Amino acid sequence: MDMVIQPAGRVQGEVKVPGDKSISHRAVMFGALADGVTQVRGFLPGADCLSTVDCFRKMGVEVEMLSETELRVKGAGLDGLQEPSDILDVGNSGTTARLMLGILAGQNFHSTVTGDASIRRRPMGRVTGPLREMGAVIDGREDGRLAPLSVRGGGLRGINYDSPVGSAQVKSAVLLAGLYAEGMTGVKEPEQSRDHTERMLRAFGVPVTEQDGYITVQGGSRLTAAEIEVPGDISSAAFLLVAAAILPGSDLIIRGVGINPTRTGIIDVLREMGAQIECLNERISGDEPIADLHVKAGELKGVTVRGNLIPRLIDEIPVLAVAATQAEGVTEIRDAKELKVKESNRIATTAAELRKFGAQVEELEDGLRITGRTKLQGGAVVETYHDHRIAMAMAVAALAADGAATIRDWESVDVSFPGFAQLVQNIR
Ligand code: S3P
Repeated sequence: MDMVIQPAGRVQGEVKVPGDKSISHRAVMFGALADGVTQVRGFLPGADCLSTVDCFRKMGVEVEMLSETELRVKGAGLDGLQEPSDILDVGNSGTTARLMLGILAGQNFHSTVTGDASIRRRPMGRVTGPLREMGAVIDGREDGRLAPLSVRGGGLRGINYDSPVGSAQVKSAVLLAGLYAEGMTGVKEPEQSRDHTERMLRAFGVPVTEQDGYITVQGGSRLTAAEIEVPGDISSAAFLLVAAAILPGSDLIIRGVGINPTRTGIIDVLREMGAQIECLNERISGDEPIADLHVKAGELKGVTVRGNLIPRLIDEIPVLAVAATQAEGVTEIRDAKELKVKESNRIATTAAELRKFGAQVEELEDGLRITGRTKLQGGAVVETYHDHRIAMAMAVAALAADGAATIRDWESVDVSFPGFAQLVQNIR
């Protein structure tokens, strides 16, 4: 479906964004493995998280949807999952695929995992490698580096894994397998990635410790059901933060957004560029810090973003590139090769689509160089490559353009932000 986005003079008002995608996935998965009934509020009813629900139902877990955003997961216990009678289809969701592979590696049954065309291109060797090292039998295309993947799990032994990438999906997959392994399992990463797994495992009563730089769990640790309050997703809020930052006269409040420090790189960088962002009513909700974000437009200037900042804003880089087109001078994003293996190759897709608005964007081996400030041109017909974040980032570019843009295959937005178009309409 095509979506036509009209320019907006400014954005204003008060909004809420849907629940955090990473936390919603984990609430269902950990709830499924726990003893007892886990209650989840603020769940993201996006396509990705619904894929997680579907996969765990196929393994015999009862998940009751009390409303769109509230659900109850009847835990099967650590060893209660059943062999699925069909393929586990994760749709577009890398988080479902990789975290679930960690869990499947610990099961004494056979399973097969696949997903859409994008998932079948994404690197799975980064999880199947360490899971094989732990003893799981995994096969698939390109020697088990690409889905579809078949897993015969069980009989795992703990390892200390030095991950070559700062990836929460890799860390989480190994730690989840570690719950089923003999002894201790640890993961060390080159840059710290989001720590929702560590926080939520603790909320489910599993001791997660740090030893010599390895995040560690003890095999056989059982999970006890918990009540999970999912905060608003800062990665969804990011589209609105950038819209408000670049549209002069904007003044927007986004209520109840997660501000876990492993996720707030976008706030740090937008502030450094010159946007005014305040965190109001900072509080702890469950296991995660949250706040109301108050953002106003500013005179933006270019910045350099690299190193250990990258994992703290990895999903926000397409929309950060949009902000950079409205900043005076050069913005450079480096050390971000990981962008090439997201839902699309986001170095290539961000550059190609932003150029359709007349933006000056250079693709780098490990990132992007954007020179601003450019008045974005209307009339663009944007391809989204079925990548939700490309679709929404380009919608934000359209808001700042001098005429309407058409965004192709808009339905991918449902992966993480159902209702985005309506919400943007309401804050004009
Ligand atoms: C996620 C981790 C990140 C992120 C993804 C969600 C998670 O991926 O890009 O959207 O929920 O653990 P990587 O682990 O591949 O960096």
